[in-house]
Amino acid sequence: MPNKNHSRLIGRTFIGRGPVLRSLLLFLFTFILAGISVSPLAGNDKWVQPERSALEKTPDAMPFYPSRASTQGRHLTPEMFDSAETCRGCHQEIYRQWQGSAMAQAWIDPIYQALLQRASEATDAKVDNFCIGCHSPIGMTAYNTTPADFRKPFTPPGVSCEVCHNISAVSGNDNGAYVLTPSDNGKRVKFGPHRDAPSPYHESNYSELLTKSEFCAVCHNVSHPFNSTPIERTYDEWSESAYNEQGIQCQDCHMTPGPGVTINPGKSAPMGKQRDHIASHHFTGGNVTLHKHFGQPEMAERARNMLRSAATIEVLTPKQSLLGGELATIKVKVSNVGAGHKIPTGFPEGREMWVDFKVTDSRGNLIYRSGAIRNGQTESGTRNFKVYLGDKHNDVVELNVWEVDRVLADTRILPKGYAIVDYTFTIPTGIQGPLLLNADLNYWPFSQKLVDELLGPGKIEVEVVRMTSVTQSLAVQLQLAQKQ
Ligand code: HEC
Ligand code: HEC
Ligand code: HEC
Ligand code: HEC
Ligand code: HEC
Repeated sequence: MPNKNHSRLIGRTFIGRGPVLRSLLLFLFTFILAGISVSPLAGNDKWVQPERSALEKTPDAMPFYPSRASTQGRHLTPEMFDSAETCRGCHQEIYRQWQGSAMAQAWIDPIYQALLQRASEATDAKVDNFCIGCHSPIGMTAYNTTPADFRKPFTPPGVSCEVCHNISAVSGNDNGAYVLTPSDNGKRVKFGPHRDAPSPYHESNYSELLTKSEFCAVCHNVSHPFNSTPIERTYDEWSESAYNEQGIQCQDCHMTPGPGVTINPGKSAPMGKQRDHIASHHFTGGNVTLHKHFGQPEMAERARNMLRSAATIEVLTPKQSLLGGELATIKVKVSNVGAGHKIPTGFPEGREMWVDFKVTDSRGNLIYRSGAIRNGQTESGTRNFKVYLGDKHNDVVELNVWEVDRVLADTRILPKGYAIVDYTFTIPTGIQGPLLLNADLNYWPFSQKLVDELLGPGKIEVEVVRMTSVTQSLAVQLQLAQKQ
């Protein structure tokens, strides 16, 4: 893991791009070494003879290989699951919240569909179950869903009520390692957080697992199924953080009303008990663009607020005032104060946070800028926070995830950690008054370029969310400058 190179709570300093390049080379070197010792996958036959990990060679251990999902050896059928609309009958508010969540759209998400289509074609369908196991567990286990179903009128459920409340155990902490056990006779069993929640419709079974991050881990930790490269490791990021030490679970931030509000008293069903806290089911993340696409302005606003709660930004101005004609170096500090994992986390091909830094004079003339968007991407030289995945030739992988073989660089900010970036520019001679320094911290779930490439230009307009912003003045000594 490249992250081991910087310790958890200590930020990194960039000076221009030099150290970035240096650490990139260091990463590459580490991965070349790692590649020699662990990669069993030489040549192009990766997709012909995928290797199972040594642990999982026993027959039937992975019935949905390469997904790690299992069903206690049972064959599941659609009748074993209810639709979310059945649950809505009693759990109205929870249904309404869940319906707006990204997980409810996990199968119909157009970006997912386009990428799965590509991955499936490129790998002769060898990754289908891998993706479907997390984006539609009931589709995979009960409907034999394939990407061809995208063109059929029937839509299998995404991550629905019946997925989460029929998971009785987990067999690992990544790649879909849930054990899905719907009951097929008599009263249906739902696993939940209470020991005292009888229901006229189903049996209620207490499950400690549902209250812990390990439950989310099975889907929020993704490794390459055939070469184990860590691709998306939200759970691992959390488990190595102070939040884990303090017992703060994913549920404590993502199943509460929103940043700063931790309890939600009420009843989850009309005949249920009045409780101090009912788990919220918005599962708010940062994908404002997806919520807008599905016509959910309320969820989009929740996601903006979630993003705004995650970070702070400061401009660290130099102690002495500067002179016209001089080279100024300004440091900007970005801290992860609200997220229990790196910012950004998740889908590495897309998620990106960056600083848009501008210097203007007192009349508003732009003197320097770094971090603008050009051709649907952040411009080159932008100080950004992102994972760069690479293939076996060390080339950056942007969309062809199945070709990923290594992590080239990871500049994201650790939970409770910070990063310092800096900018060097020349102060013009003879300027009037102080300079204005403005730094915006921006986020998008994927670049406009990526979505245009996947779906065609103009299909989805990506919203850039300004997470936070700071403006500060920089004193400049005019007189001395004019002497030079
Ligand atoms: C006829 C009404 C009704 C229907 C339909 C219904 N439930 Fe419930 N459910 C209840 C009641 C009442 C409770 C108890 C709530 C309490 O006391 O907090 C409950 C509790 C739960 C719990 C908490 C269990 C625990 O032990 O913590 C879960 C989970 C749950 N329901 C899931 C579902 C799912 C999923 C569906 C759809 C397949 C569903 N319910 C359909 C009435 C219903
Ligand atoms: C201390 C609160 C906190 C905890 C604990 C926490 N999160 Fe988050 N999470 C946030 C905030 C704030 C954001 C918005 C910033 C961001 O997108 O990274 C977020 C964003 C996300 C996103 C959106 C991805 C992205 O960056 O675009 C996912 C997925 C997610 N969290 C999953 C999890 C999972 C899974 C866990 C447990 C392993 C977890 N979170 C624990 C606060 C938390
Ligand atoms: C991504 C997984 C997931 C999905 C999807 C999901 N739930 Fe839950 N649900 C949970 C977890 C986890 C908890 C327990 C959280 C806690 O208490 O820490 C929970 C709690 C509950 C409870 C108990 C609430 C309380 O606090 O008393 C009910 C009832 C419930 N869910 C019903 C539903 C219904 C109905 C749906 C679909 C409309 C649904 N859930 C969708 C994961 C999920
Ligand atoms: C069965 C797999 C599965 C489980 C279990 C699961 N998730 Fe998810 N989750 C997903 C998938 C797939 C997506 C992405 C959906 C999409 O955008 O296409 C997602 C999306 C999310 C998002 C929205 C991210 C964004 O970018 O806005 C949050 C937040 C989240 N999950 C939190 C949780 C938490 C908290 C838990 C545990 C209580 C959990 N999930 C359990 C599969 C799962
Ligand atoms: C172990 C579970 C898991 C597997 C396997 C998985 N995903 Fe996901 N996927 C997720 C989760 C969780 C998220 C949400 C992360 C976040 O919000 O950043 C996600 C997000 C995505 C997104 C971003 C969606 C958006 O709207 O921004 C795409 C696209 C996607 N996955 C495609 C795929 C494809 C294609 C595959 C198979 C090659 C795949 N996924 C395999 C769990 C999984």
